[in-house]
Amino acid sequence: MLQNNANQEDIVAYLTDRNLPADEIIMNRLAEEIPKNPPEQGFLTVSNALQWRLQYGRIVELKEDVDGIIPIVSKKAYDNMKNAIKYIQSTTIDFLNKKIGEITHYQEANEVLRLLSGIDTFFRNQNEFLKLLKLLKPRFMVCEKTDRREYGDFQTPYELTHYICSYLADDEGVSPDILIEPTFGRGSFLISALKNLPKLEKIYAIEIYETYYWQTKFFILELFIRNPNLRKPSIFLYLNDIFKFNFGEIEKSIEGYNVLVLGNPPWVTNSELGSLNSKNLPRKNNFKLLNGLEAITGKGNFDIGEYIILLMLNIFSKYNGHLAMLAKNSVIKNLIYDLPKTNYKINDIVALNIDTKKHFDVSVDASLFKCTFKPTNKVSFTCKVSSIVSPTAIENEFGWVGNKFVSNITIYKRNIKYDGISPYIWRQGVKHDCSKIMELDLINNKYVNGLKRELDLEKKLIYGLVKSSDLNSPIIRKPRKYVIITQKRIGEDTTYISDKFPKLYQYLIKNNHLFEQRKSNIYKNKPAFSIFGIGDYSFEPYKVAISGFYKRPHFSLILPENGKPIMLDDTCYFLGFDSLSEAIFVWAILNSECVEELLSAIVFLEAKRPYTKDILMRISLDKVAKDITYDKVISQFKSLDKELLVNATKDKWKVFLEKINKRNLEGRQLSLFEITTNQNSLSLALANKALELT
Ligand SMILES: C[S@@+](CC[C@H](N)C(=O)[O-])C[C@H]1O[C@@H](n2cnc3c(N)ncnc32)[C@H](O)[C@@H]1O
Repeated sequence: MLQNNANQEDIVAYLTDRNLPADEIIMNRLAEEIPKNPPEQGFLTVSNALQWRLQYGRIVELKEDVDGIIPIVSKKAYDNMKNAIKYIQSTTIDFLNKKIGEITHYQEANEVLRLLSGIDTFFRNQNEFLKLLKLLKPRFMVCEKTDRREYGDFQTPYELTHYICSYLADDEGVSPDILIEPTFGRGSFLISALKNLPKLEKIYAIEIYETYYWQTKFFILELFIRNPNLRKPSIFLYLNDIFKFNFGEIEKSIEGYNVLVLGNPPWVTNSELGSLNSKNLPRKNNFKLLNGLEAITGKGNFDIGEYIILLMLNIFSKYNGHLAMLAKNSVIKNLIYDLPKTNYKINDIVALNIDTKKHFDVSVDASLFKCTFKPTNKVSFTCKVSSIVSPTAIENEFGWVGNKFVSNITIYKRNIKYDGISPYIWRQGVKHDCSKIMELDLINNKYVNGLKRELDLEKKLIYGLVKSSDLNSPIIRKPRKYVIITQKRIGEDTTYISDKFPKLYQYLIKNNHLFEQRKSNIYKNKPAFSIFGIGDYSFEPYKVAISGFYKRPHFSLILPENGKPIMLDDTCYFLGFDSLSEAIFVWAILNSECVEELLSAIVFLEAKRPYTKDILMRISLDKVAKDITYDKVISQFKSLDKELLVNATKDKWKVFLEKINKRNLEGRQLSLFEITTNQNSLSLALANKALELT
């Protein structure tokens, strides 16, 4: 790919295609790194099947230096308070020595520190107090090397927390009595709030990591030592897991007060935690009330930050106040998507984009999600989007328009008439999960498989294959790869292969163990060498296809190779046609401005797979066809291929228009859980849905 000038988007699409267990932050980091530093065959391989966990020990215990391996896991016990104290200034140490150095009991020290900083219960016991006294004597410098990925640990820099707090106070008039920070980390939001929100009476904050818990205490102490006249609210810092924390007591004390929920919850997905074997998850995993099918098929993948924001809304939106939390844009989209279901009484919802590269050195779209709790007023299900540096310049608004969820309400309203039901059924390409055996290259007229073995096979069941990364060209006549198609429809018996294609059968049997290793449940109890995403539509000669992964709404026309239809893989969606003129006209309509605008209004580009079957099924091709002229259609095509133009005459356009208008799919529109007569089991419905979502 690199030799073919693959760009960052190509690499992300490829990694997504390979089901790398990583979220967009990691994917983007890899995609930036790979061209600069092309990978070589490595010492440690990572597999989705997670066998690599077994290999961890070998790396941790590695004695010699191996180029490229950086030890990040240290078995040495480290001390949280010791780690935290290295961040405080020597003047603060001197000050503390003076104030509490001579005290003998922790409760006495707690009272001194409470008066000084507002922090309630600085030391939870005598041991902690004595430990600090010991640490205050000589300066300790320890090296902290710990992998904090599972905690979604992206500490917000002061520059940003100060900016956010002064924006809330000065521009938005937010003036809370009570502040809640559910995952306070090193406490930068707390420090900025103490400086910018002068009416604060109480702060409640929770953090799971003890080093940060201590660091924050020291930072707050330092703040008040330097600013003794700053107003001191009562500060309750809890070293606890937000997923186990009981907010009951806090709730009792906030009735009638103005609340601000502020912070930056972890940036990590539950599936990534799964791959890290982490337990940092809510107990009730199905908090989004997914049905069984959605949970099985992957809609259950969520960011734990999303869970924490929902938790906060659930508890606090019934009081007066606001919520302002940093979150990935994909999380904000999900929050708005679920609003009608959750029905929280919130209003004035905005997402203020932040520069994540500058503040966190990551490439992922994220914003400050802000809303007002309005227990009595009308709720709203849309979110305005602008930038944190100019919050009043609204760039976009997304959310629910009636019963449709759209990414740009203004553009959507202009194109609303094209949002309906597609007269054709969009299909997903072939899924086999055995690319080493099923996908072939044609080198010097010989098929070569993914194990680099040259093969001598009957050609009948071998078809050209187009993948997402090939869908850059407008017209595709020649495939880059080939694929073995063992079935004509899902569930078809495959024993016929042994009689009709003995060489191919021998090849498949020899590699049967690789088919049996396929993890997905959809292959269970199915004929040998089963594939999915296959049906009559796969064998239509002409296809119009789009990649599910790419950001551009770009549709390609795929022509048969030597009379044989070309297949697509399961990262692509397509329509199949037996008439070339129909395929050309549909291709031209799909690439028209109307469709481009509609898609730009309903597609969320930050999604892993922006274009899905659900989205494509919404394009009313018949309505777009009515509003487009033949000359426009032809002008698009002319520049590409003059030869094919004989198939796209004005007469054929008229016939096409009649046909498309007659295609009244309502009534016989198959649902997305389509069950045909041949596929009448629930397991196949599940399989189709799994195919859709994987
Ligand atoms: C994205 S950081 C942000 C920290 C801080 N709010 C800030 O803005 O700098 C997320 C924090 O959540 C903490 N965290 C992760 N899982 C947690 C849990 N289950 N309970 C409480 N805190 C957690 C992490 O240790 C980390 O400090």
